[in-house]
Amino acid sequence: MEKETGYLYAKGFFNELNASSYDNIVKFTTFGQDHHWKKKILKMVSTKGLVLDLACGTGILSSLLMDNGNDIFGVDLTYGYLKVLKKKRRELFCINGIAEVLPFKNNYFDYVVSSYLPKYANLTHLVDECFRVLKEGGKVIFHDFIFPDRAVFRKLWKFYFKMLKQAGRCLKSWNDVFNKLDSFIITSGWYNTLPGILFNKGFTNITSESLTFETAAIMSAKKP
Ligand SMILES: C[S@@+](CC[C@H](N)C(=O)[O-])C[C@H]1O[C@@H](n2cnc3c(N)ncnc32)[C@H](O)[C@@H]1O
Repeated sequence: MEKETGYLYAKGFFNELNASSYDNIVKFTTFGQDHHWKKKILKMVSTKGLVLDLACGTGILSSLLMDNGNDIFGVDLTYGYLKVLKKKRRELFCINGIAEVLPFKNNYFDYVVSSYLPKYANLTHLVDECFRVLKEGGKVIFHDFIFPDRAVFRKLWKFYFKMLKQAGRCLKSWNDVFNKLDSFIITSGWYNTLPGILFNKGFTNITSESLTFETAAIMSAKKP
């Protein structure tokens, strides 16, 4: 995929109009799996520390991490989403910007986490920045949707998106997302590309796990 395509998708998908319904949409469209996936990320943030949540959106993951006793900084491209975050959690510190160019000093964070960012991001620049802002021994955790490998799961996945497109007809502000998300996930390929980029940058302990019938995955790595 072209490096900047993901950015254009993100700009088109997320806006002021769908920001306030995002939390409910992600809950219902993933049949509650979003919460389960985010809980997995929480478990991987095994010590209390300073955490950067990239593409924090309306702050679902940031809030959970904060409730767990971590100090959080959030960064997101979409101002409307950060406005919703601020309404929910005034005390959460967040910045409107892109994950590929971070306004933080070197060796600053214990963890960098992100949920649903990799498919939108320029992975090389993203990994460079994560490496730079993480402390030695710090951990990066990425989570996003993937296209299932096994034929039976692919069938289910395709059926699910057919239904989602039907639902999108009644939800104007989500129509474009529901129509394009499937082909975007298929072409993204982040899951296959990211391990090599992490390795080349010098990250170690690279792990990956596919989740819920191979519809999503979590990948983590350590800065030595
Ligand atoms: C599906 S939402 C996920 C929000 C949140 N992480 C969650 O799990 O609920 C995707 C978010 O990624 C943000 N985003 C996409 N590309 C980005 C980038 N390059 N830098 C920062 N944020 C980005 C969008 O603005 C949007 O808020």
